[in-house]
Amino acid sequence: MTETTTAPVLGAPAVPGPRPGEAFIIAMCNQKGGVGKTTTTINLAGALAEHGRRVLVVDCDPQGNATMACKVPLLDEDKGPTQATVLLEMGDPRPLIAETKVPNIHVLPASMDMCFLPSRMRESGVSVSLYRRMLSHVLHLYDVILLDLRPALDTDTDAQTAAANGAIILVDVDEWAMKAVKMQQAQHIAVMRRAERPDDDLAILGLVIGRIVKPMGDIDAKIYRQLQRHPRIRCIGEVPIRSTDLKESRAVGLPVVQHRPRTDTAGFFRTIAVNAGLVKAA
Ligand SMILES: Nc1ncnc2c1ncn2[C@@H]1O[C@H](COP(=O)(O)OP(=O)(O)OP(=O)(O)O)[C@@H](O)[C@H]1O
Ligand SMILES: [Mg+2]
Repeated sequence: MTETTTAPVLGAPAVPGPRPGEAFIIAMCNQKGGVGKTTTTINLAGALAEHGRRVLVVDCDPQGNATMACKVPLLDEDKGPTQATVLLEMGDPRPLIAETKVPNIHVLPASMDMCFLPSRMRESGVSVSLYRRMLSHVLHLYDVILLDLRPALDTDTDAQTAAANGAIILVDVDEWAMKAVKMQQAQHIAVMRRAERPDDDLAILGLVIGRIVKPMGDIDAKIYRQLQRHPRIRCIGEVPIRSTDLKESRAVGLPVVQHRPRTDTAGFFRTIAVNAGLVKAA
């Protein structure tokens, strides 16, 4: 069985950037649920903040897990504007952005009314451009914007993808993993066409294999190898099961890099940050 890769991928390409002075927007995606999107988003933010990067986490999921992980209150449409209302009204999200316990990490919280976003976005007639328009207000404030997508291929995730410069696809070792990656790639191509952008304008930064349990049976070991050697997308990191480090960090509202900086768990996310081309190895 191949061992977990924690060393940086050699020759990682420089990330093709947006305009100078503007944030690089990354869609953290997979329509398959529970694969580690939110866990990787929060902890990659921690690894980037450690390098002094200013990071905005946009919680794109009405479940609100990224918001809750930052110990920030969810927004409530009965009490004021939400990400959904600002998005649909093509407004400025800055008043909604909250600080977290890590000075360089801010979060645009989620809210329950985001459940209705797909249908409301379709009614707008300009759905695919809405996230890009909203984020245009904050591009100059951050180095990296991480979009924590919900597990779906729908109008909202299309618009989030259309706003992105790059994507990191999270996967778990599961018999449906390769199929899920294929569907994700198909969405990326379809969205780029709808957004009238060239296919390669969305940089697929890599696959991250999350929630790895070892030892593996033969079936999982085969899937794991297929993911590690994916024909078109390089594997930029792996996150084995580390419930204690991750839960204890989340319980205090910190990424593991800040809460338990010397653990191997922190190292997994530092490696992802380097392999994605977002920071240089220390
Ligand atoms: N490496 C890991 N070790 C232990 N637990 C993990 C690990 N990665 C994720 N988890 C746990 O697995 C569950 C799913 O992870 P997470 O919420 O990050 O996935 P997700 O892809 O964002 O899910 P969803 O599709 O619902 O948004 C969570 O309870 C999380 O705490
Ligand atoms: Mg999630």
